[in-house]
Amino acid sequence: MIEVVSEILENYKDSGSLIKILQEIQNNLGYVPKEAVDEVSMKTGISPSQIYGILTFYSQFRLTPPGKYTLKVCLGTACHIMGGHEIFEHLKRKFGIMDNETTEDGLFTLTKVRCLGCCGMAPVIMVDDKIYGRIDISKTERLIDDFK
Ligand code: FES
Repeated sequence: MIEVVSEILENYKDSGSLIKILQEIQNNLGYVPKEAVDEVSMKTGISPSQIYGILTFYSQFRLTPPGKYTLKVCLGTACHIMGGHEIFEHLKRKFGIMDNETTEDGLFTLTKVRCLGCCGMAPVIMVDDKIYGRIDISKTERLIDDFK
């Protein structure tokens, strides 16, 4: 893992962009682990608290590993009106997690998103790269069972 981080730091050493470095680390590792923060801090001289300040400010960053499947629930206007919010709340209760958290078994990471670009199929959820439209709570339940 440290080799990957070192390589990224080398590639971006002239960019001066901490955000780009952190994005690239997350693209490669799926999240930004503490060891990566320590390495970035050591090589750039930026304190860990400043790095964590950025990591916690931008919701795109993850500090924990993602689940096996990423389940995105669309809460854009069309999906919200058609019941997306109820599906999201149901999944939060069912999994016992909040937005952007991962289930205890490491299977699902639940994330809310704003418009997946297929409003005509609202409400929409996405599991990894696959879209499921005109979904409701019982269809979502069946879908989750299929992934288990
Ligand atoms: S609002 Fe959900 S796909 Fe556009």
